[in-house]
Amino acid sequence: MRGKSLSELVRFGVSIERDLLENYDALISERGYATRSEALRDLIRDALIQQKIEMQTDIHALGSLTLVYDHHARNLVQEMGEIQHDFHDNILSVMHLHVSHDDCLEIIALRGAVSQIAELANRLLSLKGIKNGKLFLTLPSSTITEK
Ligand code: NI
Repeated sequence: MRGKSLSELVRFGVSIERDLLENYDALISERGYATRSEALRDLIRDALIQQKIEMQTDIHALGSLTLVYDHHARNLVQEMGEIQHDFHDNILSVMHLHVSHDDCLEIIALRGAVSQIAELANRLLSLKGIKNGKLFLTLPSSTITEK
């Protein structure tokens, strides 16, 4: 982000239990972070994003919905298509992979109000024949620190 952001960089001290810090260091090392600061910035950003998404359901979000399903399931493919057409304004792209004889993996890229994205995701995830799925939501970086 250096050079891109006009935010002032601030240093601050943190008091923390030794064993908690040791576990934190082990965790961020395993995840490949070069510094404690970079790992902490990511944790803070994620907490701010999650809070905004929970508190402001009309905020403009970005997301991806991943679904695994059996394409032989009765009416499933047709129902999935109808639901996606109901939310065509929110769908940026769909990637469909035929992963085995039975299973399909679908990744749907989404944008729009959190409430709309969540409604679309819930309608798809609750269909009979969807074996597993998960919605990931995030915010454009410019909105993370907006008041
Ligand atoms: Ni398929």
